[in-house]
Amino acid sequence: MLKICCADIAVIFSNTVANGRQLLSFRADWLAPDEEYRSVIKVRVFNGPNLNLLGQREPGTYGQRSLMDIMQELERFAGDCGVQLDHMQTNSEGKMVDAIQQAGKDGVDYIIINPAGYTHTSVAIRDALLAVDIPFVEVHLSAVNSREPFRQINYFSDIAIGVISGFRGESYLLALQAILNRIEP
Ligand code: DQA
Repeated sequence: MLKICCADIAVIFSNTVANGRQLLSFRADWLAPDEEYRSVIKVRVFNGPNLNLLGQREPGTYGQRSLMDIMQELERFAGDCGVQLDHMQTNSEGKMVDAIQQAGKDGVDYIIINPAGYTHTSVAIRDALLAVDIPFVEVHLSAVNSREPFRQINYFSDIAIGVISGFRGESYLLALQAILNRIEP
């Protein structure tokens, strides 16, 4: 259970991203001295099939940045905010289900997930998220809603905290920002 003292949260504008844009962030020191009221927020990021090919794969749709580049930027932002963040990518539905179940055992507080092609097909991944009952933000690089009809089928958005779609790699930063904004004293 998260216990964060309201008075300890200082919101500042800080330059947290490499490209110079400013994002709202929390000061890292709100997690520091008084352990009674603070516990580190654990966020795990799941990336689905073919996202390992970002940068080469349809750059006009998904952008030119690699997944490693995007995840490194996200890790920097998380670090600046005092959030413990890790990430995984798999092309396999079963591995994604196993990893989500593991997140339940690891005490993960929030999930950011880009189910990629499984967004439109996977009851199994949906059921895993429901089973672990970890709040999650669904993320897409492309603006899925304005793409092909088959991409309008979505097994996740009705059970997500929210969906961030269409901001390329920045969608992940916005998802983490949304999680931080949502944390209440
Ligand atoms: C995607 C959108 C999906 O429709 C597609 O299958 C992907 C990536 C996105 O991030 O825009 O692989 O999730």
